[in-house]
Amino acid sequence: MPSSPSPAGATRNPFTQVETAAVGVSVEHLSKNFGSLQVLKDVTFSVEPGEIFVLMGPSGSGKSVLLKHIVGLELPTSGRVTVDGKDASSEATREQVRMALVFQSGALFNSLSVYDNLALYPREHQITDEAGIREKVMHALKILSLDGVDQKSPSDLSGGMKKRVAIARALVMEPQLMLYDEPTSELDPVTSATISEIIATLKQEYHVTTIVVSHDRELALNISDRVGILMDGALISLGPPSDLKAPTDPHIAEFLYPKIDLQHPRFKNLETTP
Ligand SMILES: Nc1ncnc2c1ncn2[C@@H]1O[C@H](COP(=O)(O)OP(=O)(O)O)[C@@H](O)[C@H]1O
Ligand SMILES: [Mg+2]
Repeated sequence: MPSSPSPAGATRNPFTQVETAAVGVSVEHLSKNFGSLQVLKDVTFSVEPGEIFVLMGPSGSGKSVLLKHIVGLELPTSGRVTVDGKDASSEATREQVRMALVFQSGALFNSLSVYDNLALYPREHQITDEAGIREKVMHALKILSLDGVDQKSPSDLSGGMKKRVAIARALVMEPQLMLYDEPTSELDPVTSATISEIIATLKQEYHVTTIVVSHDRELALNISDRVGILMDGALISLGPPSDLKAPTDPHIAEFLYPKIDLQHPRFKNLETTP
């Protein structure tokens, strides 16, 4: 099926100078079981080309599993996922649509320099010659304000810099769809804000459709076009970020604005008698 023209228009890829269109994502009645455990329950939503969609939810609610379905690393038990109108699980889709997933761990190779981490994908796919790869890698490092770290090992960098290297590596893939799994986890608030700004800037400048999985409320409030909330495998809320300001659902309120209460029974249960 030919891809339909993107309503958000085409954009010029900063590396290749080729016009590419941002792609849309559609998740339709997606359910996923691992044995007897149902991890995703009839999840339906779509992400428009060029949109920043943030998926929030507590740990274990199924966010990473959902992302893996979009990049074709997991297969639905029922329902389907399409990217640019094509089945996300098919090999052909992954060849036609450039998707880059920034893993929560960063998934960087400490045995390789930052430069070689970024050059890995274009070398493996023989995208261009070594001089062309160098240009792309150095450009991506510059965009992420990582000049001067190309010969370092990722293990020598701070947490925030590692995240930026992981984002730079994704950018070298010249993605039409960027997916981030918990990009601000384990970072301090200022570094988290910087990463949020980077995600928003990359989307604005390169018009890449962006899906962010996160439980960072500030990130969702500040950079998303729309937010979905996943709880226990079900999408219980979908709307603009302004919906997060005064949630009426008590479960969502407790998740977004947890109260610290030392008299709470949860705390009492942890007490041990001497
Ligand atoms: N490959 C797998 N096999 C079995 N269970 C899994 C697998 N991947 C994830 N799960 C389970 O699915 C649930 C959701 O996981 P995940 O999507 O990683 O949650 P999170 O919202 O924290 O990203 C968890 O209970 C997790 O243990
Ligand atoms: Mg996760």
